[in-house]
Order: sequence, then C-alpha cells, then structure tokens
Amino acid sequence: MTRTAYVNGEYTPIEEAKISVLDRGFLFADGVYEVTAVLGGRLADYAGHVTRLHRSLGELQMECPVGDDELLAIHRELVKRNDVEEGLVYLQVTRGAADRDFTFPDGVKPSLVLFTQTRQLCDVPAARTGFKVKSVPDIRWDRRDIKSVALLAQVLAKQAAKAAGCNEAWMVDGGFVTEGGSSNAYIIKDGTIITRPVSNAILSGITRASVLRLARERNMQIEERAFTIAEALEADEAFVTAASTFVMPVVEIDGHKVGGGQPGPAVRRLREIYIEAARATAI
Ligand code: PDD
Repeated sequence: MTRTAYVNGEYTPIEEAKISVLDRGFLFADGVYEVTAVLGGRLADYAGHVTRLHRSLGELQMECPVGDDELLAIHRELVKRNDVEEGLVYLQVTRGAADRDFTFPDGVKPSLVLFTQTRQLCDVPAARTGFKVKSVPDIRWDRRDIKSVALLAQVLAKQAAKAAGCNEAWMVDGGFVTEGGSSNAYIIKDGTIITRPVSNAILSGITRASVLRLARERNMQIEERAFTIAEALEADEAFVTAASTFVMPVVEIDGHKVGGGQPGPAVRRLREIYIEAARATAI
C-alpha cells in the first residue's frame, strides 16, 4: 500500500507528491516544521505542537496557509488514510515558491506539506538498553527556539554520532550541553532532574514540557540549569525527550558509562508515566 501525503490542498501518493524547485524551503530552508507522535491512532501532545508551530511561524513573519480546524482535520485524515496506529506525522510550512531572491516575496502563499511515518515508538529495544550519546560542538545559529527546517548542523551532529556507534549527539556550546541533535537533554542527580532552561539556545520541546509537568505533579525535584558533559558523567541517570523517542534513557556518553550503564529506575518510571499520559490525552 502506498503512503498518502498532503501537499497544498491535495492528498496524493507520496511518490507523486511534488513541490516547486523555486520553493523557498528548498532554496533557503525558509520554513518551519513539527513532528507529532501518533499513539493508538491519535495525536499525542497535539495542542503543544500547534502552539509552537504558530510561534515559529510568527518569529519568521509567516502564516499557516490553513486554519487550526483544517490543520487538525488534515492530520487526522492522513493518520486514517495511512492506517497509522503508532508513528509520526511530519508537517512543514515554507514561505512558498517565488523566483530566487533573499527578501520575502509579495503575495506568495506558504506551502504546506504533511506526511506520516509508521513506526514503533513505545515498545522499542532502545528503551530497554538505552541510548549511547556522542558530544559534538553546537555549531548552530542563535535562534534554536525556532523549529526551522535548516537542520544541517543536526544532520552533521547525528551523522558523527552514528559513525561513532551512538544513537544521539549532545551538542555543547560554551562548555555546556544545549540539547540533543533532535531531542532535549537531561541528567538526574540525587533525585533531582536537571535540564537546561528554555531560551533561544534550545528548542522548547513539547515532550519536555509534558515530562516536566508530570514530574512536578509527582513532587520530583527539577532544576532548570545548564550542565556540562563532565557533570553528566557523574550523574545517576540521564535521558533525552522528543516526540520521536518520548523519554529515552542515556547510558553512555563519549564511551563512558552513565550510572551503571543501564537505564535507571527514575528514567524508566518517567517513560512509563509519559507514555501513559500521552496516550490518555491524545486526540
Ligand atoms: N525533533 N530539540 C531539538 C533540536 C529537536 O529537533 C527536537 C525534536 C526536540 C524535542 O522537541 P519535541 O519534544 O517537541 O519533539 C528538541 C523532532 C522530533 C525531529 O526533528 O524529528
């Protein structure tokens, strides 16, 4: 069965889904994206993703070409047509197609593309064995709060991690971990969850917000501050969060074991709590 994608108002087989070579997403990475998890055929943390989409668009003086009701309907239609029980919906809005010129074109409608990816998110081997992480310099720009499709730094970071036999990169700026290549980064020390505060230096993760809220509700201690790789190596546990990984234990950094080199109890519990809540609130 072929997958169906959505491109500017049309549902088409993904092999036939096309965008102009003049699209500014292609020429300038002039666009933003979202990735929403699907659990039990429903959209997890959807409201958060739409809110962040509007914020990213606003920072780039762009507008979504469809209203919120239609956007939700498109997500649901694609999940239905592609029979996605568990997986991801990828959404991208770019400034649209216009003859190549750096400045914003007048009167051009933004392009909207969505497609789905069926994949296991809950019952994955990595959740049992944990992620290995490689630290790399964070060479990105200063507006990492915008979920921009300009991901070359993350492509290089994650490729370097893969080449080193790792599952994720942790990017380091000024001696401190900013975040993962496509995730937010955390350590746990003496029962306290430590993670970098939201700022322009990181993406404000939707999974991060949910996990921290759930942890607070359970009276877990949280310290929002930056940490170093050296501190992470002394931590009891470490983990990352993202729509694509939920809560994922980190058991090794740059070849050194974290905690006992096994997923620890707090992270395992946070993963269970998050998945249960995300499933219960998915729409
Ligand atoms: N990435 N930080 C970065 C740099 C990310 O790319 C992501 C997500 C996150 C986590 O955000 P959220 O919890 O809202 O998924 C943090 C997505 C999954 C991706 O690019 O595939």
